[in-house]
Amino acid sequence: MTTTEAPVPVRSPLPESLAGRTAVILGGSSGIGLAAGELLASAGARIVLAGRDRTRLDAAVARVAAAGTAAEVLGAAADVTDENALEEVFERAGTVDHVLVTAGRPAGMGPLTGLTRDVVRDAVEGPAWAVVAVARAAARRMPPGGSITLTSGILVRRPRPGMSAPVAAGGAVETLTRALAVEYAPARLRVNAIRFGAFDTPLLRTAYGTASGAEGDAAMAEAGGSMPLGRFGTAEEAASAALFVMANTYMNGEILTVDGGQSLV
Ligand SMILES: NC(=O)c1ccc[n+]([C@@H]2O[C@H](COP(=O)([O-])OP(=O)(O)OC[C@H]3O[C@@H](n4cnc5c(N)ncnc54)[C@H](OP(=O)(O)O)[C@@H]3O)[C@@H](O)[C@H]2O)c1
Repeated sequence: MTTTEAPVPVRSPLPESLAGRTAVILGGSSGIGLAAGELLASAGARIVLAGRDRTRLDAAVARVAAAGTAAEVLGAAADVTDENALEEVFERAGTVDHVLVTAGRPAGMGPLTGLTRDVVRDAVEGPAWAVVAVARAAARRMPPGGSITLTSGILVRRPRPGMSAPVAAGGAVETLTRALAVEYAPARLRVNAIRFGAFDTPLLRTAYGTASGAEGDAAMAEAGGSMPLGRFGTAEEAASAALFVMANTYMNGEILTVDGGQSLV
């Protein structure tokens, strides 16, 4: 076996069955959600991107529209924890075939005894409530064959000290995934989650204190060197897993780990 330091080409397969389908991406203005929008555009889907910051959202809509042959690309400013705002997103989207939730950032980091009750409660409740709110709003508008794809992280499997609140939030998302998969199956809707490892996105760059640009790229390349595959994953590799879950009509109640082998070592 030949070992190598050189990166292998990253190319994500596009599920053709998503052409013409409508996908709502909550958290679609950055990182994994934005990459999913670009892949869905290449697959010919109709895409609705949602996020809170209007400027970032407009830039994302333009980028996704330029990325491929999307049937249509819309942007809707909304906070996923606001049920009324979510209703407006889904009203705007019309019939929705697939929903991807990548909105959110881990919160409530630090030793549990050093955090206030409100901080811990918000950190756990926020993501859990977002799943409940999305599931309720989406289900009313999705025809049989639709899917909801949620997001967690490998810390749920391999917790680190000081991460109790985010780990609890991720655990709630995964538990809700399995509960909703069973609850929605009679309507022929599928619910899955992807448990992500470390992917080079604005979120991870913030965590590592690096910016965009060549200097940031070099810092991320060095930091990613400790990963089993010698690098962090790309946002596109993370997003590609979401498209697979959307397109595979027998994936249901699954927590799919995509981490380049990180949780094995
Ligand atoms: N990247 C990783 O290594 C990694 C690892 C494990 C898990 N994850 C999880 O994967 C998801 C996506 O991560 P990412 O790296 O793509 O993050 P990102 O680059 O920070 O993107 C997050 C997106 O979510 C939106 N968002 C955040 N809070 C929101 C809210 N309350 N309502 C609506 N939109 C909201 C953001 O836009 P606005 O801020 O404008 O709203 C942005 O579009 C996150 O849940 C993250 O915790 C990521």
